[in-house]
Amino acid sequence: MKKHNGFSGSLGFVLAAAGSAVGVGNIWRFPYLCAKDGGGLFLLVYLVLVLTFGFVLLTTDVAIGRRTKQNALNAFATLNKKWKFLGYLTFLVPTLIMTYYSVIGGWIVKYFAVYLVSDGTQAAEDGFFTSFITAPVAPIVFMLLFLALTAWVVYRGVEKGIEKYSRYIMPGLLLLIIGIAVFSLTLSHTDGNGTTRTGLEGLAIYLKPDLTGMTAKRFLGVMLDAMSQLFFSLSVSMGIMITYGSYVKDEVDLNCANNQIEIFDTAAAFLAGMAIIPAVYVFLGREGMSSGPSLTFISLPKVFAAMGGVGRLVGVLFFLALGFAALTSCVSVMETLVANCMEIFHKSRKEMCAIVGIYSLVTAVLICLGYNALYFELPLPNDTVAQLLDVMDYISNSFLMPFTSLLTSILIGWVVGPKWIIDEVQKNGEPFGRAKLYGVMMRYVVPVVMLLLFLTSTGLGDLL
Ligand code: PFF
Repeated sequence: MKKHNGFSGSLGFVLAAAGSAVGVGNIWRFPYLCAKDGGGLFLLVYLVLVLTFGFVLLTTDVAIGRRTKQNALNAFATLNKKWKFLGYLTFLVPTLIMTYYSVIGGWIVKYFAVYLVSDGTQAAEDGFFTSFITAPVAPIVFMLLFLALTAWVVYRGVEKGIEKYSRYIMPGLLLLIIGIAVFSLTLSHTDGNGTTRTGLEGLAIYLKPDLTGMTAKRFLGVMLDAMSQLFFSLSVSMGIMITYGSYVKDEVDLNCANNQIEIFDTAAAFLAGMAIIPAVYVFLGREGMSSGPSLTFISLPKVFAAMGGVGRLVGVLFFLALGFAALTSCVSVMETLVANCMEIFHKSRKEMCAIVGIYSLVTAVLICLGYNALYFELPLPNDTVAQLLDVMDYISNSFLMPFTSLLTSILIGWVVGPKWIIDEVQKNGEPFGRAKLYGVMMRYVVPVVMLLLFLTSTGLGDLL
């Protein structure tokens, strides 16, 4: 992020924002939630939410940033003095995400290393992932590698290099995922009972909404999962897009840029789902689909193994590109913490990098130990059994984000007025076809839905 120069133009902004948005959320989180919630229904709910809530939340963040030219903390104070606390509240989200993002980054580094030094067959074996994450030292070492790289990039400044490489690596990652997705559809596997499952059957599960046994409570649960995924994946409602927005030049067509970010982010998630869900179904059946956070790391190696000789090369390239996508996202989380803390504590970038670095290190070690010395099984209101990593993820994305979005919608919808945002988007006379939709969503729909989801996330949804 460039504090003083700003982005050179629309493309610079779109690439940087897409770099933050496209990460493990698209390739690890989206497919496992989708599998857990039964495929097609989750996909449909997610797509509807992207077009409505995703568009509203992203527009709000970016427009607040550009209009106030401030980062989140000060932006809310500029909007209304009494609402400064909301800046602090949004800031809590990256603080929590930072504790576990580098742990997942470490898993990716591990898999990259496995494919680099071996043919990857061991990674495809049952139990490989679990025995890795439950080991006492290895996950910490790989996390450290990833975190050190992140801290180094943040310290050096994002503009020196990383933006340049994004141009090639992000489209490369997308092409790889498309290739893997197409291959997944050709898979077929016969298990011990003689049942044969094919990739095309898996595709049907991914695409067709299955409404059998649907209840209001279950639907709200799926919606909460989809909404938490939307927040996480688009990096909205956590101050990041406000800060990015503050670097955007006044001539940039915000609506057009936001659409591009949304399309890129959603396409990456959709294709990752297509690469992973049919493969999970083929190799692990319907029961395997609920395996949670380990899903991607278990199923992809099986796909690569099925590819034969080229599987290893695909594995190396895939985990390299995924590692890069994770790095650009993790950098944006850490950069937000550093930039905001520099302002709160009036410290230099160097000092703040060190302090945030130590905070990230200590908390990430704890998260790693959550699968070992600190292992527990906590049932969450979304019907999952969580370890430390999942608890952090749940608090930040399912609990805090609906709450901050609820408050933001009250501030923008009722205190400041949606016109404040719409005027910013139309500043240079650009067309903003969904201006009406924006106003209605912000005043009526977002507050009600966020309140419902917030209650669901606390477990009070059971009363409904
Ligand atoms: N959007 C990123 C992803 O999908 O992996 C994750 C992320 C980045 C979350 C930045 C939060 C954030 F502030």
